[in-house]
Amino acid sequence: MNGLSERQLVSHYENNYGGALRRLNTIRERLAALDWARTPTFEINGLKREELIAAGSVILHEIYFDSLGGHGDDPPAGLTEPPAGLAHALERDFGSVNAWRSELTGMAKTLAGGSGWVILVWSNRLGRLVNQWAADHAHGLAGATPILTLDMYEHAYHLDFGAKAAAYIDQVMANLNWERIDARYRGAIGKGMGTTNFSSRSAPRCRKTRAFLPRS
Ligand SMILES: [Fe+2]
Repeated sequence: MNGLSERQLVSHYENNYGGALRRLNTIRERLAALDWARTPTFEINGLKREELIAAGSVILHEIYFDSLGGHGDDPPAGLTEPPAGLAHALERDFGSVNAWRSELTGMAKTLAGGSGWVILVWSNRLGRLVNQWAADHAHGLAGATPILTLDMYEHAYHLDFGAKAAAYIDQVMANLNWERIDARYRGAIGKGMGTTNFSSRSAPRCRKTRAFLPRS
């Protein structure tokens, strides 16, 4: 992938995404065995809070890895810019595709050295696409559907870029797979098959985790 090493991607996929997935599975097992009437409230609260955080991390990471590829693939594949329908929506809601891209990457750069996500979401309630900031995995615009996620936790880039978050952001934007991003957009607005099945050819292979992608 252009500018993103296999070492970085595999570490991110197996340790961070895989860790969230294993955590989620363990939490769900604990919840399934819980005696809700007798369990202390703090224990219920803790498990449900951690379940939400782990589930958010799994979903956002799946969208992140699913969105990579395109011209970062070897050989390069797909579109370098959004397809017409999505491009039109970005122009409608942000003024132009470049204005959308500037807003998204500008927001991402404010998270350099910290943590969180920057997410392109579709909001039925607002009737538009929104670039949304997320402080953590459990932070989202109510009712909105993630279309594209940009992981701004340092674990996503420190092996390749150290503290140079801006260089990482540029490389992610250069590796976007617009076909898959567009499929999520069309699904969100009810004009397509919806999200891809996350059997991403761009995501690093990880046998331990890929078989357990949760569906709730
Ligand atoms: Fe991550």
